[in-house]
Amino acid sequence: MYSDLIPTFRVKNDAVLLAIESSCDETAAAVIKGGREILSSEILSSCKEHIRFGGVVPEIASRAHTSAISIATENAIRKAGITLSDLDGVCVTYGAGLLGALLVGVSYAKTLAYSLKIPLVPVSHIRGHLAAAYLCDKTLEPPFVSLLASGGHTAVILVDPDYSFRVLGGTMDDAVGESFDKVARVLGLEYPGGPNIERLAREGKNVVPMPKMLKGNGGYSFSYSGLKTAVINYVHKKEQAGEEYSKADVAASFQSAALDILAEKALEACEESGYRILTVGGGVAANGYLRELLTKKCADKSIKLVLPPKILCTDNAAMIGAEGYLQYKKRNFSDLSLNAQARVDLG
Ligand code: KG4
Ligand code: ZN
Repeated sequence: MYSDLIPTFRVKNDAVLLAIESSCDETAAAVIKGGREILSSEILSSCKEHIRFGGVVPEIASRAHTSAISIATENAIRKAGITLSDLDGVCVTYGAGLLGALLVGVSYAKTLAYSLKIPLVPVSHIRGHLAAAYLCDKTLEPPFVSLLASGGHTAVILVDPDYSFRVLGGTMDDAVGESFDKVARVLGLEYPGGPNIERLAREGKNVVPMPKMLKGNGGYSFSYSGLKTAVINYVHKKEQAGEEYSKADVAASFQSAALDILAEKALEACEESGYRILTVGGGVAANGYLRELLTKKCADKSIKLVLPPKILCTDNAAMIGAEGYLQYKKRNFSDLSLNAQARVDLG
């Protein structure tokens, strides 16, 4: 029985782990050594198939994963210059994400772990986004502050020396990436919304008034639904009155309202906690405006900024391998009853 093998698995510092990610529209596989070194990272995307529907269609994503997962994995193994027998474990995203999409990766990883008789390591996609930082700074160790800016989550987190998370605050409603996607739709931009807003915003000016971004007395609680409503109301009013308006100015004004507050709060958390390192993770961390703003603010305050390259901010399997390694070291192995979960807790 596979479950009888679990207590016999040895944990190695320089473990070579295969990581698999299939939570949304990217089918990704990567090989990571010692939790920090990327031997290969493959990403196949079904993004183009979803454009005409204005967002990810879960069933199309699941079918695309089924076709792509073997290709992504075989390429990752080949490009890493290893064979399957060199693997010390298989890490896989079990949630959060689209259930049907996750199940493809989970089932594939289970089959590999069973047939190779190696550990199966379940990984939270959200923690994976934050673990991307370990891949771009090989000396990075907690404590530090992490800013999570993704399609499903927005939070400011203290990562303590034992790697545990203390969530200082997060969004009360929409996540920041979700608000980019929704506002993109209002402005008639194609999916994926985030990069398209960023592109349009480069041609505009921050001149359209936007609402205050903090809920209640501030702290670390964000609210993005008011911002989305403000954009909808502005656009509808202009259109009903038949007045000209600049979509680029709306995009630029929305982008700075949505992102200035994140940078401000992340830096405030560094000051308050005394932690001198800030890491950033999630798809929105690929945004050029946010990257420049954080780079400038951190330089001003002598905070070390660990900002993963854009390709490690959007969905990939290397980040799953980085987080998977931390879980592997803790022997957080699963048996073959592992299932997919649409939601997972941040902590
Ligand atoms: O972090 P992610 O994979 O979502 C979750 O795991 O929940 O990131 C996807 C989100 C989408 O909302 C997308 O619009 C946003 O990241 N995004 C961006 C950019 N690139 C991706 N938002 C703003 N600017 C970008 N360049
Ligand atoms: Zn993601």
